[in-house]
Amino acid sequence: MAVKNIQSVCCIGAGYVGGPTMAVIADNCPNINITIVDLNKERIDLWNSDDVTKIPIFEPGLQKIIKKVRNRNLFFTTEIANSIKNADMVFISVNTPTKTKGIGAGRASDISWVEACTRQVARYATGETIVVEKSTIPVRTAEAVKTILKNNSKKNPSKEGCSFSVLSNPEFLAEGTAIKDLQNPDRILIGGDDELSIQALKNIYLNWVSEEKVITTNLWSSELSKLTANAFLAQRISSINSISALCEVTGADINEVKKAIGLDTRIGQKFLNAGPGFGGSCFKKDILNLTYLCQHFGLPEVSSYWEQVVSINDWQTYRIYKMVINKLFGNVTNKKIAILGFAFKADTNDTRESPAIFICKELLVEGAFLTIHDPKVNESQIDIDLGEVGQENRSNWSYSDDLLKTYDNCDAIIILTEWEEYKKINWDFVSNKMNSPSWVFDTRKIVSPEEVKNYDFNFWQVGLGNNI
Ligand code: NAD
Ligand code: UDX
Repeated sequence: MAVKNIQSVCCIGAGYVGGPTMAVIADNCPNINITIVDLNKERIDLWNSDDVTKIPIFEPGLQKIIKKVRNRNLFFTTEIANSIKNADMVFISVNTPTKTKGIGAGRASDISWVEACTRQVARYATGETIVVEKSTIPVRTAEAVKTILKNNSKKNPSKEGCSFSVLSNPEFLAEGTAIKDLQNPDRILIGGDDELSIQALKNIYLNWVSEEKVITTNLWSSELSKLTANAFLAQRISSINSISALCEVTGADINEVKKAIGLDTRIGQKFLNAGPGFGGSCFKKDILNLTYLCQHFGLPEVSSYWEQVVSINDWQTYRIYKMVINKLFGNVTNKKIAILGFAFKADTNDTRESPAIFICKELLVEGAFLTIHDPKVNESQIDIDLGEVGQENRSNWSYSDDLLKTYDNCDAIIILTEWEEYKKINWDFVSNKMNSPSWVFDTRKIVSPEEVKNYDFNFWQVGLGNNI
C-alpha cells in the first residue's frame, strides 16, 4: 500500500475554524480541491458573497486569501452528499458546545454534531476515505467515530469498496490571529494509528510547514493535548487575574508584576494580560469538558483543580461589574454608560462567551442606559446576545457605529475589548463630552494612567494599585 495522494478534500463546518483553516490549505496547496459544506445556508451564501467584505467571519488577512482561492480550489456549498462522495479526506470541523441537557449537562461537550456528520460520511463516502477530527472533542471520541463509520457504512450504496481511517488533528489557531497562526503554526499535531493516513495528512501540511513542526502521537494523546493546551492557557489568565485583584488592594501594579515574573524564561511574558475574564467559544467549554472527563474517569480531585480556573474567571467578570456599580455610588439607574467593545477579544467579530454580555445584561437590569460600540460586531448580534434582558430593556440600550458620538453626556465609559482604535482615544475630547462626575473603567489596561490623570473624570484600571 502507498501513501494516498490527496486531491480532493471536504470540510464539514464553515465556521471560525473550517473557513480560515481550509482557506489557508487551499492557498498553499493549489493542486487540492477543497469543498466546505455547512447546513447553514445563510452562512454559505455569505461565504459566497461577491463582496468579500460580507464573508461571515472577520479575521485579519482572511478576505485577501478568500479573494484569491474562492472558486479556484476552494468552494462553499450546502451540497453535503456529493462533497463527501468526491473526497479523499474529510475534515470534521463542526461545533462541539457544552451539553445543555441530559447526562453531563453544563460540563460535557455535546458531540451530536460530530456524530451526525460522521453518519453522513459513512453514508456517502466512496473508496478509501481518511476522516480527520478537527473539532475539539472529548478524549476517546475517535473510538465512537470509528464505530459509527463501520456500522453505518452498511447503508452506503458503494459499501463494497469503502474503507475509513480516523485521525485526530486538533486546531490551535486563536481568533484575531487565525491566518498568522495557520500560516506559521507552532506545531501541527496528528494523532492516529494508521501510518499511511498520517503521512497523507502530513504531506498536505509539508507544503508550507517545516517537518520538525509536525508531531505525531496516538489518537488519545492528540485529543487530550488539545484540551490540556487550552486548560493551561486559560489557567495563566485566571492566575494573572487573581493577582490583579490583589494588586488593586495592595498598591502593586499588575503590569509591573507581569514584567517581573515574565522575564523568568520558565514563565515567559505571553498570556499574562489581566482583563475582564477570558471569553471565546473554547476555554470555558474545553475546561468544563476536561473536568467532566476527570469525574467520569474517577479523578474528582483533578476535576476540582481545573474547575477553579473557570470559577476565578467568572469571579473576575463579576467583581469588575460590582466595582463599577460601587464607584457609581451603588446606583446606575438612568445613568448613561458607554460600552467600548463587545467582541470577546480584538480583531474578531465573535462574541461567544464575551464578558461584555454578562456586564451589559447586569447593567441593564440595574436600570442603566447603554450605548454599545464595537468596530466589527453588528447590532443584530448584540441583540441576540443580550437576549430577553435586551428585549425587556430595548429602549435602554442603543448601538453606536460612530465612536466619536458614543460618549455624549455619559456618566461612565467601560472599555471591554482591546481594539486598536480604543488605544488612540483623544481623552481631551472625551472629557469634554462626559457628565461630571464621571468614570472611565479600563478593564484591558490599554489607557496610560499618566495620560488621563489631569482630566475631569475619575479613572479605574484593572490591576492598578492606586485604585484603593
Ligand atoms: P462554528 O460554530 O463557528 O462552526 C461550526 C459550523 O458547523 C456551523 O456553521 C454549523 O452550521 C456547522 N455544522 C454543524 N453540524 C453540521 C453538519 N452535520 N453538517 C454540516 N455542517 C454542520 O464553530 P467553530 O468555532 O468553527 O469551532 C468548530 C470546532 O473547532 C469546535 O469543536 C471548536 O471547539 C474547535 N475549535 C475552535 C476554535 C476557535 O477559535 N473558534 C479554535 C480551535 C478549535
Ligand atoms: C484559544 C486558544 O488560544 C487557541 O489556541 C485555541 O485554538 C482556541 O482557544 P481564542 O479563544 O480564539 O483561542 O483566543 P485567545 O487569544 O486565546 O483569547 C481567549 C480569551 O482570553 C479572550 O477573551 C482574551 O481577551 C483573553 N486573554 C487572552 C486575556 O484575558 N489575557 C491574555 O493574556 C490572553
